[in-house]
Amino acid sequence: MANSQLSFLVLALCILSVSADVYLSIDCGTSDSYKDTNSLDWTGDDNYIENGESHIVQSTSSISRAMDTLRVFTTGNKNCYHIDSIRKGRVLVRASFNYGNYDNRSSPPSFDLHFDGNYWATVKTLSTGNVYYEVIYSMTKDWISVCLAQTEHGQFPFISALEIRGLEVNMYQYIDFNYPLFLINRFAYGANSTLRYSDDPYDRIWSPRLVPRGSRLTQVKSDATFSNGTFVSELPPPAVLKNAVTAIRPNSTIHLLMGLPSFRIPVYANWYFSEVTQLQPNESRTFKLFVNNDSSPAFSPPYENCRQWHISNYFLSSTDTVTLVPTNDSTLAPLINAMEIFSVGDALTNGTNTNDVKGLNSLKRAFREVLKDWNGDPCLPVNYEWDWIQCNTDTTPRVTALFLGSLGLSGILPNFRSMDALQTIDLHNNSLSGSIPDFLGTLPSLNRLNLANNNFIGSVPASLSQRNGLNLTLSGNPNLCTSGNSCASSDSKQNTTNNSSGREKINNHLSIIPAFIFIIWFVVGVQYS
Ligand SMILES: *[C@@H]1O[C@H](CO)[C@@H](O)[C@H](O)[C@H]1NC(C)=O
Ligand SMILES: *[C@@H]1O[C@H](CO)[C@@H](O)[C@H](O)[C@H]1NC(C)=O
Ligand SMILES: *[C@@H]1O[C@H](CO)[C@@H](O)[C@H](O)[C@H]1NC(C)=O
Ligand SMILES: *[C@@H]1O[C@H](CO)[C@@H](O)[C@H](O)[C@H]1NC(C)=O
Ligand SMILES: *[C@@H]1O[C@H](CO)[C@@H](O)[C@H](O)[C@H]1NC(C)=O
Ligand SMILES: *[C@@H]1O[C@H](CO)[C@@H](O)[C@H](O)[C@H]1NC(C)=O
Ligand SMILES: *[C@@H]1O[C@H](CO)[C@@H](O)[C@H](O)[C@H]1NC(C)=O
Ligand SMILES: *[C@@H]1O[C@H](CO)[C@@H](O)[C@H](O)[C@H]1NC(C)=O
Ligand SMILES: *[C@@H]1O[C@H](CO)[C@@H](O)[C@H](O)[C@H]1NC(C)=O
Ligand SMILES: *[C@@H]1O[C@H](CO)[C@@H](O)[C@H](O)[C@H]1NC(C)=O
Ligand SMILES: *[C@@H]1O[C@H](CO)[C@@H](O)[C@H](O)[C@H]1NC(C)=O
Ligand SMILES: *[C@@H]1O[C@H](CO)[C@@H](O)[C@H](O)[C@H]1NC(C)=O
Repeated sequence: MANSQLSFLVLALCILSVSADVYLSIDCGTSDSYKDTNSLDWTGDDNYIENGESHIVQSTSSISRAMDTLRVFTTGNKNCYHIDSIRKGRVLVRASFNYGNYDNRSSPPSFDLHFDGNYWATVKTLSTGNVYYEVIYSMTKDWISVCLAQTEHGQFPFISALEIRGLEVNMYQYIDFNYPLFLINRFAYGANSTLRYSDDPYDRIWSPRLVPRGSRLTQVKSDATFSNGTFVSELPPPAVLKNAVTAIRPNSTIHLLMGLPSFRIPVYANWYFSEVTQLQPNESRTFKLFVNNDSSPAFSPPYENCRQWHISNYFLSSTDTVTLVPTNDSTLAPLINAMEIFSVGDALTNGTNTNDVKGLNSLKRAFREVLKDWNGDPCLPVNYEWDWIQCNTDTTPRVTALFLGSLGLSGILPNFRSMDALQTIDLHNNSLSGSIPDFLGTLPSLNRLNLANNNFIGSVPASLSQRNGLNLTLSGNPNLCTSGNSCASSDSKQNTTNNSSGREKINNHLSIIPAFIFIIWFVVGVQYS
């Protein structure tokens, strides 16, 4: 990760035309679809999540329609939005949170945010106003999950909006595709308002960065038209490049504030430069970008175009400096139009083993009513696995246990033979029926199988009954017998005997009930006739 070379990007004169595959704006806590004042199409969140409760912020906290409703989660260790069927590629995902005192407790909560099984951020919401978190990364699957995880007692995670924007393949390519970028700041220097869609087709949010009153800096407007577009891979929008900040005195050095924390973090940054007017022959604007002592070569921002600098994987903190230093022969001061600064996250996980995910999906389909609230990566991040499974600590985790006892499951067991790392399966005290599937006996690592107190029928597969070292519990399945019609084991024989006498009693009751109903019907019939 420690690559300490500043890389200078030569002008790339090409316009990329690959169109974004996903452009989704989800307004959480509502079912409504609508177009907002930025002409963005919003949709409610019904199709992406089933758990949680919808709430409306207090009217005094209204920011925008999307920020007025939210979905809050009071149960579960994590609750996930799941967005399916997206062509793999680089995406920008933004999650927004407007507390707005929706619960009348005047207590904005803090909680964790995950995406695709990766840690994203610890969200700190505000009493007034919204906060948002943004990540740019290359998808490893054809779906995206965003999860909220409770971390503090009594502080319930909520979310107001979730936005997903497909990016072009060449955007943010100077970072290894295995690493996510977490936005720290995205500034439009000299702009007097926030710029986003439709000024930026990718709907990046560029915050205005004005010069403080009385400073030696000044805002300038560009007369460039950018009629040919801009030609760097990040595609900074012309609206952003139309503004700049420069110094009043020509030989001034400009210090850029990055907004970094006091401790060192791996940083990825882009700086964008575009001349604001056609320079006279006797004018020149030449400067260098310094990150501490490392510097770019001297350069002059192009007019009607853009030059971009980036650093990737520098470890920086608030004590490090980024400066624009004019060369001695420059007649004009340095200028800057825009900056993006990100922290580089840990390598993206590839998620839980896909065979295990497949098997878990079969279980979720078979027991939908009970298990539907479990979404997102089953095992990751570590310590946020689904409540009813246990995972090992491999980089690509395996599911080693299913804890599905006492959940009121009914019906027959689906096929989850692909989960071949399972050691423990606990299904006791449900209403599972049908025969015990043979594949259970083929799971190579299985050493504990608890099927007690269900309604399994038929015989116990030999693969299970004859398996050494398997702790098999079959008690409380009254109709479970071996093929020879003798019961599976002495334990279950005893219990079956006891329970079958109970079944006879029930049958006796059942045979009485129809007669009883008939008598009532008859009496009533007589009365009405
Ligand atoms: C909060 O208070 C308002 C008015 O006092 C009330 O209408 C609303 O139902 C309350 N909300 C909650 C979640 O208690
Ligand atoms: C902001 O900028 C726009 C266009 O650059 C301009 O029309 C507008 O007057 C400016 N607003 C303020 C408050 O300076
Ligand atoms: C725009 O492109 C055309 C044709 O490629 C070229 O002739 C023209 O000089 C360009 N304009 C600018 C401002 O770069
Ligand atoms: C900058 O220019 C001013 C005069 O315009 C001069 O007094 C000053 O010494 C110069 N500063 C540097 C660092 O060159
Ligand atoms: C450049 O020349 C113009 C006249 O053509 C003059 O007004 C201007 O002050 C000169 N600029 C500099 C930096 O010398
Ligand atoms: C920068 O250079 C100065 C002098 O050239 C040196 O004293 C200082 O240690 C350097 N700083 C870093 C961070 O390399
Ligand atoms: C710029 O000027 C300073 C002194 O004013 C000098 O030390 C330095 O070598 C000069 N740089 C160049 C590139 O001429
Ligand atoms: C994920 O998979 C890719 C490609 O198979 C591999 O390069 C990468 O190292 C894997 N990442 C992890 C964290 O295992
Ligand atoms: C059996 O499961 C039900 C839920 O389906 C639960 O209410 C009950 O307490 C469980 N019984 C035992 C003995 O665990
Ligand atoms: C066998 O499994 C049952 C329940 O699954 C458990 O109560 C028991 O302790 C286990 N026995 C052994 C020897 O591990
Ligand atoms: C038989 O079933 C009863 C309750 O149904 C249970 O308490 C007991 O442990 C079972 N016996 C065996 C040997 O598993
Ligand atoms: C049957 O149940 C009775 C009590 O309900 C118990 O005393 C007896 O041990 C059970 N028989 C077997 C074979 O488990």
